[in-house]
Amino acid sequence: MSRGDVEGILDLTDTFAEVGRRPIPKVPALRGRTVASLFFEDSTRTRMSFETAAKRLSADTMTFTAGSSSLSKGESLRDTVEVIGSYGADAIVVRHAMAGTAHRLADWTDACVINAGDGCHEHPTQALLDCYTLRERRGDLDGMRIGIVGDIRNSRVARSNVLAFSLLGAEVVLVAPPTLLPPSIDGWPVTVSHDLDAVLPDLDACYLLRMQRERITEGLVPSMREYATDYGLDARRAALLSADAVILHPGPTNPGVELTTAVAADSRSVILDQVSNGVSVRMAVLFMLLGSGMDLAPDQSVADQEVGG
Ligand code: NCD
Repeated sequence: MSRGDVEGILDLTDTFAEVGRRPIPKVPALRGRTVASLFFEDSTRTRMSFETAAKRLSADTMTFTAGSSSLSKGESLRDTVEVIGSYGADAIVVRHAMAGTAHRLADWTDACVINAGDGCHEHPTQALLDCYTLRERRGDLDGMRIGIVGDIRNSRVARSNVLAFSLLGAEVVLVAPPTLLPPSIDGWPVTVSHDLDAVLPDLDACYLLRMQRERITEGLVPSMREYATDYGLDARRAALLSADAVILHPGPTNPGVELTTAVAADSRSVILDQVSNGVSVRMAVLFMLLGSGMDLAPDQSVADQEVGG
């Protein structure tokens, strides 16, 4: 996507954020459309957020929650997608441990496919909601200096956010021990530091990543405690950030590892805003994909619709 494409989605998100603030936060924009969620990995926020977004747009929803391994082979995945397609899904929201799953699914179905996280590869709607949250707090990402801290090696959130933040003009610094960086960052538009204390005073935003214990297969850090000592955001470190810096985390957090409970509750933390903005961003994405025949611009005709009638 171009910078203009991303900014277009963020502008459209404003419309749906307004819908979310209404006493009855629902519009009939996608009435008669069906959104299927196909989650092969655990999820609280992303799954509920897409489902809430679909329901606020009056779409019907179907949920498929896979067990841990029985459907992990390509053949079974294809069968599942074909079954869901035959129930008439217009969009399939998919999360899978294998990189490239969403891309592959798109060859097997006529439904729109939305990547809700594919292995360590990408998590595009997370990046969009993070950009929206930063824009809401700071007005513009252009020229911002954003630190992404922690388990970058295993993080699809980091990969999507590096692309999105730099597309919108921010400067990105990755902060992690060498073992938690990808084997190569050639071509990534980033700088790297191993010293969080040195980086914090110059950051406009500090994006903390979850230590992804389910993906860490080797001893990449000596212990969680040692990681927290070197890279956890506690009150002392948070005091090094400027007064108007923004603290983000995609959730779920490991309290006491990436950040302390007190820092999560700091006035500079936008962790709960990220969750609520996730619904608005996903409404915008679903509407852009499924609301054919309707204006894509954030016009009043969408926002003014009322359910019923
Ligand atoms: C992220 C994910 O699943 O990739 N969480 C999320 O979508 N809110 C990040 C994570 O699990 O660490």
